[in-house]
Amino acid sequence: MNVNFSAPGRVLSGAQPTGSMHLGNYLGAVKNYARLQNEFAESLYFIADLHAVTVEQDPQALRQSVRLTAAMYLAAGVNPEKSVIFNQSRCDDHAKLAWVLNCVARTGWLNRMTQFKEKAGKNRENSSVGLYTYPILMAADILCYRATHVPVGEDQKQHLELARDIATRFNLEHAKGDFFPLPEPVIPKDTARVMSLRDASVKMSKSDPSDYARINLNDEDEIISQKIKKAKTDGGDTPADLDNLRSRPEILNLYAIYAALAEINLQKTVDLFNGKNFSGFKSELTEKVIATVAPFRKEIQVALADPAQIDQILVKGAAKAREISAPILREVYEIFGF
Ligand code: AQP
Repeated sequence: MNVNFSAPGRVLSGAQPTGSMHLGNYLGAVKNYARLQNEFAESLYFIADLHAVTVEQDPQALRQSVRLTAAMYLAAGVNPEKSVIFNQSRCDDHAKLAWVLNCVARTGWLNRMTQFKEKAGKNRENSSVGLYTYPILMAADILCYRATHVPVGEDQKQHLELARDIATRFNLEHAKGDFFPLPEPVIPKDTARVMSLRDASVKMSKSDPSDYARINLNDEDEIISQKIKKAKTDGGDTPADLDNLRSRPEILNLYAIYAALAEINLQKTVDLFNGKNFSGFKSELTEKVIATVAPFRKEIQVALADPAQIDQILVKGAAKAREISAPILREVYEIFGF
């Protein structure tokens, strides 16, 4: 592996091993992983197993899911020769830095995090403390490598702003200088928040009880076809212009998916289907989704057929990750007087 430790830009991101990734994870974040590994000297992509246990997980299923997520990174074009791929729990520095950052962040900042409110819902008093402090661990994930660019979906934007606030306070109050760079989010324009196929007011999510709400990256062609056929629309005609499209959430979601997969903009997508019927649009969308997911599915199967190889990539990746994080954490400890 050829990693240049002195390069200024460092990309980092991660996804939780909580089941199969879906088209939202891919178009919102993971699609950018492969592109950015070629644009920056260094990139680290981790599997967020520490984040996953903020809600209850079955240990055996979690272990399998770590491998599945790694296989999905590989299928998405993340190259272990170019990028550092590892699971978070193999590098202790995330958790160690998180404790220090717990003491830098303010409770008022955490109280504003909308994702905790959404995920805890009415069960707030009974949700884990980890779910509440999740954004602090995310700040540690980023800052323990002094990462500069973080590809994420829009749902993570607020957490990234918190990471910037924590870095700023650490720099001013503790390091008395520019110790941590302020990480920049890398968020796609039209697919920052891919919505559920059943309800365009909520995001496409792994934890949605209906499998018909999402397209999984390992779905069979026939399942994809059924899911798109059943995807909710509003009964109107195909939109004639962008204003009309933007006022129709279900259609906007499907058009944004089509545009991202066809690599054209929304205006071109509107022009392409203007005056045509909706079932024609859905068939073409189905073709595009299958053309993306089918090769993905095959690549995932190839990677999963050799779990020892996946484990080796993760072990090697973690060793590389620790080489970067250990001296940074040592400096943090020094600054704190440990
Ligand atoms: N619907 C989405 N549209 C665009 N981007 C999305 N992301 C997630 N959902 C969408 C982005 O995908 C990356 C990995 O996400 P994650 O696995 O860490 O967990 P999540 O954000 O909690 O995703 P899910 O699918 O909704 O999982 P559950 O149901 O377990 O909560 C992140 O960059 C995220 O922004």
